[in-house]
Amino acid sequence: MKYIRERLGAKLFLANLLVILVGIVILAITIQLTIPAAFNRHMGSMNAEMNGMGMGQGQGSGYGKNLFENFRASMFESLGYAVTAAVVAALLVSLFLSRRIVAPIHKLSEASQHIAEGNYEKRVDVNGSDEIGQLAMRFNQMASQLEEVESMRRKLIGDVTHELRTPLTSIKGYMEGLVDGVLPANAETFEQIHHEADRLSRLVDDLQELSRVEAKAYSLDLHPVKVSNLVQTTVKRLSPQATAKRITLRSSLPADLEPILADEDRVTQVLVNLAANAIQYTPEDGEVLISASRHADEIYISVKDSGIGIPPEHIANLFTRFYRVDKSRSRNAGGGSGIGLTIARHLVEAHGGRIWAESAGEGQGSTFTFSMKMAAS
Ligand SMILES: Nc1ncnc2c1ncn2[C@@H]1O[C@H](COP(=O)(O)OP(=O)(O)OP(=O)(O)O)[C@@H](O)[C@H]1O
Ligand SMILES: [Mg+2]
Repeated sequence: MKYIRERLGAKLFLANLLVILVGIVILAITIQLTIPAAFNRHMGSMNAEMNGMGMGQGQGSGYGKNLFENFRASMFESLGYAVTAAVVAALLVSLFLSRRIVAPIHKLSEASQHIAEGNYEKRVDVNGSDEIGQLAMRFNQMASQLEEVESMRRKLIGDVTHELRTPLTSIKGYMEGLVDGVLPANAETFEQIHHEADRLSRLVDDLQELSRVEAKAYSLDLHPVKVSNLVQTTVKRLSPQATAKRITLRSSLPADLEPILADEDRVTQVLVNLAANAIQYTPEDGEVLISASRHADEIYISVKDSGIGIPPEHIANLFTRFYRVDKSRSRNAGGGSGIGLTIARHLVEAHGGRIWAESAGEGQGSTFTFSMKMAAS
C-alpha cells in the first residue's frame, strides 16, 4: 500500500486497471440484468411466428435459423445496453481519477506562476508522499529559500544605503558650509572632507571584499603555514597603530606548535582583522596578546585584549554584517562599519574552522579565537 502511495507510476497503472475492471463489472452486471428480458421478448416473437405458421409445417432448418437469429438479436440488444453503461461508468471513473492526479499539478503550476511574478510567500498545500507530494515539498523549500534570499537582499541594500548615506551627508554638509561661507576654506575643513571621502572609499572596498567572500569568489591556496610567521607578519603590520596608542602588542606561542593547513594571505587577513579590532577597541596603555595552542587535531589562535569588552547580549551578533555594539562610538572612533568580523568568519569557515568571541563583560577585555586544521605531518 505504501509502495503505491509513494509512486505516481503505480497510481496511474492502478487507475487504468480500475477503469478496465469497472468496465468489465458493469458489463457483466448489465448483461445479467438485461438478458432474460431481451431473450424472453425475442423468444416470444419467435413463438408467435411459429404459431402463425401452424403445426406440422417443416420445422427443420427454418426453426433453427430463427432461434439462432433471435438469440443473436437478444444478445446484441443486451450487449448494447451493457456497453453503453460500461462506457459511461468508465468515463466517470477515469474523469474522477485523472482529476485527482492532475489537481496537485495544477496547484504547483499556479504557485510557480506566483513565484515567477516575485510573490515568494506562495506555498502549495499538497500532501501525500508520492512523486508529486515530494515535488511539492521541494517546491516549498525552494520558495522559502528564495524568500529568504530576497529578504536578505532587501536588508543588504537597506544597510548599504544607510552606511553610504552618513559620509555622503557629511561631505555635502561641509560643501554647503564652504559655499555659504559658514565654514572657513582652510586645511582643517579640507582634511575633514578628505577624511569622510576616505571612509567612503574604505567602506566601498570592504563591501567589495564582503561580496567576494560571501559569494565564495576566490580560491584558497592551502599549504602548511607556520603560525609564528603568521603572527610575525601581523605584529609587524600593526605595530605603528599599537605604538600610536601606547598599546603593548605581544605574542606567546609554544615552541613546538604544528603548522596549520591554510591559505597564508587569507589567514593573515583574519588575524590582522582581529588584532586591529583589539587595538581599536582598547584604550591607550592597554595590552593585546596573540597566542596559539593545540586542541586535538586543531590549532586555536587567539587575540586577547584588555579593552572595552563586550556585553554578553552582543556576543552572538558580532559576526553579522554591519553589526556594531555601539554604533555612535564606532563611528566617532574612526568609523568601523561592522564588516571586518563578517569577512573573518567567512574566511575561517572556508578553511573548515570556527571563530568565536568571549568577554567577561563591559570593561573586562575580550578574546577572539579561531580554529584551523593542523597540517598533516
Ligand atoms: N576586541 C574587541 N573589543 C570590543 N568590541 C569589539 C572587539 N572586536 C569587535 N568588537 C565589536 O564588534 C563590532 C564588529 O566588529 P567588526 O570588526 O566586524 O566591525 P568594525 O570594527 O566596527 O568595522 P570594520 O568593518 O571597519 O572592521 C565592532 O563594531 C565592535 O563593537
Ligand atoms: Mg573591525
